[in-house]
Amino acid sequence: MSIRFAFFDAKPYDIAAFEPHIGQDIRFKFFETKLNADTAELAHGFDGVCIFVNDTADAEVIDHLCEAGVKLIALRCAGFNNVDLKHAAGKLTVVRVPAYSPHAVAEHAMAMLLCVLRKVHRAYIRTRDFNFSLNGLTGFELHGRTMGVVGTGRIGREFIRICKGFGMKILAYDKFPAKDADFDYVPLNELLAGSDIISLHCPLTDDTYHIIDADAIARMKKGVVLINTSRGALVDADALLEGIKARQVGAACLDVYEEESDIFFEDYSGHIVQDDTLARLIYMPNVIVTSHQAFLTDEALSAIAATTISNIREFFADGKCQNEISYKKQG
Ligand code: NAI
Repeated sequence: MSIRFAFFDAKPYDIAAFEPHIGQDIRFKFFETKLNADTAELAHGFDGVCIFVNDTADAEVIDHLCEAGVKLIALRCAGFNNVDLKHAAGKLTVVRVPAYSPHAVAEHAMAMLLCVLRKVHRAYIRTRDFNFSLNGLTGFELHGRTMGVVGTGRIGREFIRICKGFGMKILAYDKFPAKDADFDYVPLNELLAGSDIISLHCPLTDDTYHIIDADAIARMKKGVVLINTSRGALVDADALLEGIKARQVGAACLDVYEEESDIFFEDYSGHIVQDDTLARLIYMPNVIVTSHQAFLTDEALSAIAATTISNIREFFADGKCQNEISYKKQG
């Protein structure tokens, strides 16, 4: 008998990436809706659920899933801040895709940075209107500048490699510094004060929630550029907006946003967006917002699908999986 999976928040690019990997042994039912307390009952009769970054697996949802007979939550992403691991312990197993393509996210972070620094986003709109004026488009060069990298795991280190290619100096901060690093670690406050650009590559945890708040922004160099491709709640968005208005923050590149879960991945053109902070940030000439797309490459989607399917097969073969995440392991 095949393993039956409810696949939430399914987008056409997910289905295209997963279909080539599906065999006779696993059946997916693709649901467009996100997983939350209202939709959890759709999981009735399925062996597992496959979810992404903006699905919710809090205590209430986990209880629904257990009643529905679900044994496995297969995250098709690296981050797992949307799953209540403590509540899941002993009830069902949670697996993830720890790494798929650090290049995808690191390259997107650099793409956003170059775009905002050299004002490509503004030039693109101008020339489409046959406005060839250069006024207001002066940028600054990366060569010789200092990049502060918070979190030096797979993505942070790939981003550092790219920055070095641009001739940048690196200041790094990590709660668990790598022993074999070929760059300098400094305390967070030193990084904040000494960096021209700061890029966040740490996970969202109790420790890192609002790691960039009003106090952190006040410690930064005037005109600092902030890049966040990790998780929205690393940054206090209201404090960032104030920092931009006060010209303390010179530019921001945001692929994630604290309140993104009801907005990102959906088409709201023609609607009145109610989130004033997001609307104001998007309207700033020195802010670029992309909707959590840093992972979105052919290579990453294919690797995500392959690892997710292999996680599911591994778990249903012997009840264990090397990519399992548990409360105990994280605690
Ligand atoms: P990783 O686990 O390889 O690296 C995370 C690093 O953060 C580790 O070196 C760890 O020691 C460090 N860290 C943990 N707690 C910290 C703290 N309190 N302060 C400073 N550093 C801390 O993870 P990876 O693959 O590099 O991913 C990083 C993050 O990128 C993920 O947690 C996820 O939130 C985000 N991400 C975003 C994507 C997107 O599409 N925008 C796609 C994939 C990941």
